[in-house]
Amino acid sequence: MDSLCVLVLAAGKGTRFKSNLIKVLHPLMGIPMLEWVLESVSGLNPEKIGVVVGYQKQEVKKEIDHPKVEFIYQKNQLGTAHAVKSAEGFIKKHLDKDILIMNGDLPLLRTETLKPLVEKHKKEKNELTFMSAEMKDPTGFGRLVYGEKRKITIVEEREANQEEKRIKEANVGIYVFNANALLKVLPKISNKNKKGEYYITDAIEILSGEGGQVGVHRTENTQEIVGVNDRFEMALAAKKLCLRKIKNLSAEGVTFCDPESTWIDAQVKIGPDTVIYPSVVIEGETAIGKECEIHPSVHIINSQIRDGVKILDSTLIEDSLIEDQVKVGPLAHLRPETILKKGSKIGNFVEMKKTVFGEGSKAGHLTYLGDSIVGKKVNIGAGTITCNYDGKKKHQTVIGDGAFIGSGVELVAPVTIGKNAYIGAGSTITKDVSPDSLAVERSSQKQRKGWVKNRRKK
Ligand code: UD1
Ligand code: CA
Repeated sequence: MDSLCVLVLAAGKGTRFKSNLIKVLHPLMGIPMLEWVLESVSGLNPEKIGVVVGYQKQEVKKEIDHPKVEFIYQKNQLGTAHAVKSAEGFIKKHLDKDILIMNGDLPLLRTETLKPLVEKHKKEKNELTFMSAEMKDPTGFGRLVYGEKRKITIVEEREANQEEKRIKEANVGIYVFNANALLKVLPKISNKNKKGEYYITDAIEILSGEGGQVGVHRTENTQEIVGVNDRFEMALAAKKLCLRKIKNLSAEGVTFCDPESTWIDAQVKIGPDTVIYPSVVIEGETAIGKECEIHPSVHIINSQIRDGVKILDSTLIEDSLIEDQVKVGPLAHLRPETILKKGSKIGNFVEMKKTVFGEGSKAGHLTYLGDSIVGKKVNIGAGTITCNYDGKKKHQTVIGDGAFIGSGVELVAPVTIGKNAYIGAGSTITKDVSPDSLAVERSSQKQRKGWVKNRRKK
């Protein structure tokens, strides 16, 4: 809608969050609350989005990077109408537009829910159209009181009498104003109320009382317009957003065994025929391909996982790349900058960091590989460790294609193991091993016959 601008009110601190961070910057599914709101209003294709900021304005500016957003500063928070007043310059720049005004704490609101409000406003050529909802429990919301001659008053909870409190139709805090009408009504709003604040809701009473064109759009989507006031409400909202995402991915062919126990961030992508088992957490910029299995209690952060990958129980994967047909876990830990090439296998209690692990290579058990380059078809025996840190610096280990590293080997970096070399079990390797060689480093075994029996006799 090219003739629309948006104004988001986000200057408040969000006292009930009891946080050093203002409310609208708290993340839901990895995305700040305010960003969810910007996302949904962007769906209306507005020309500009003004965001009224107050507390932590620098932090908000730093966090929110959006091509249409323009920040407006409200120094003192003297009420919702005062917030709009501080955006007078913004409104004046868009006099030929309608201005949609809404609170910054509505992360569940979808574009589809906003659209009918704007459409009604345009169709009826109103000066003001606002959204209401019939609520089972409207406690905390302003109530709609219909007076004579189409006058509508919003009575805030704290100012409502018993009879008004029984009204179920609530003001949800989303308004579309004709810009001129808004500029004209703003100076008429006073702060003579219980809170001593300037209420934008007074614009409704003033405009409708003057016989202006004021419309109400009553939305059915009541679960979307409940503002987030504290951390518990945020947790519930995040859960709803997550389920919404899981529903969409399911429709695209992903199986979720237990949506209730699964957490996935907003940007996560998953391909068809992938199965996500219970208690899986997938965060950040993660993409998972098709036909993968992500088993219970796996945690994946900012990683790329290609097709046909199996990740077994209780594995943690951070900033890594896993190519096709790889098997990982159970209980593995892939730390940042790990690359597992096609068809490789990583087993129980294996940890990797800054390591490229070649095609078809295997590390089945109890291994640490850090700062390593491992070639193709390498076998890493149980308990192998790269000693990559000398107390000051990190050093690299290179293992050539086809090498066989026996169990319990320590590779003291920097060190290179040539192609097809064999390293005997239990060796501590400090020097490079040439291709096709066997290296063993351990003292020869001693045996004293009958030692145990003799000892018993003493
Ligand atoms: C407001 C409405 C109420 C409605 C409810 C829906 C008023 C007077 N009341 O009440 O009828 O039912 O929303 O949630 O508008 N803000 C600023 N600057 C300010 C004051 C507020 O930017 O000076 C921002 C806040 O950050 C917040 C939003 O405006 O995002 C709403 O303000 P708040 O004071 O919480 O209004 P409510 O009491 O929720
Ligand atoms: Ca040893």
